[in-house]
Amino acid sequence: MSRLPIIAGNWKMNNTIKETKALLKELIPLVKDAKAEVAVCVPYTSIAAAGRLIKGTNIKLGAENVHWSDKGAFTGEISADMLKELKVEYVIVGHSERRQYFGETDETVNKRAKAALGRKLKPIICVGELLSERESGQTDNVVIRQTKGAFEGIDKADLADIVIAYEPVWAIGTGKTATADDADKTISVIRNTIGEIYGKAAASTIRIQYGGSMNAKNVAELMSKPNIDGGLIGGASLKAEDFKNVVLGAK
Ligand code: 13P
Repeated sequence: MSRLPIIAGNWKMNNTIKETKALLKELIPLVKDAKAEVAVCVPYTSIAAAGRLIKGTNIKLGAENVHWSDKGAFTGEISADMLKELKVEYVIVGHSERRQYFGETDETVNKRAKAALGRKLKPIICVGELLSERESGQTDNVVIRQTKGAFEGIDKADLADIVIAYEPVWAIGTGKTATADDADKTISVIRNTIGEIYGKAAASTIRIQYGGSMNAKNVAELMSKPNIDGGLIGGASLKAEDFKNVVLGAK
């Protein structure tokens, strides 16, 4: 089963509108012939400007979070409709930084993913273990629990619109990458979990990215593994040249 790789930048809390414009203007020509699907998930304040700039290019527009309610008294949150209005296509849910610093749980990740799907946004659902969990041999249990939690009540018909990102928390922003074999092994555990819920065919079609210090140097090795379908890129998505090298390395 061949799956189209997807390389998505997660800009996190970086780039003003001015910086967004400069970065995208530089990036657009550099990745125009990419073989992989390319997306940038940008801060809310940059979405409109980014959308205008990448319109008509091969770069897809993404956001970094979405609330589960249509509207209401949720100060500081953004709804799926609001993102849809700005022509957002992808939205990250359950990033480990949201889980660690903002109280995100498997249940809220599930609610956000469902809200995204309900408005035809494509969630990039993040799972991954902490260092302490890895060291105590809990990696598989953690990603199985997070995957089952995130997909609770989600229809098989929606799977084509979902990307999973496996991001071992200890590899994020640290310069430490999981070895390609370790990443592939854990991603196969996630894929098998999807298989248990939705069947083998579904498991073989869903795209699962790796994330965590992925860069131009390690992308080729990671992407050579059978289960790895791209990357969710933090630091290396903030400079056009760096991101281009990851995108072009992901054949
Ligand atoms: P880094 O690539 O900076 O490690 O970040 C990974 C990440 O968290 C992407 O969502």
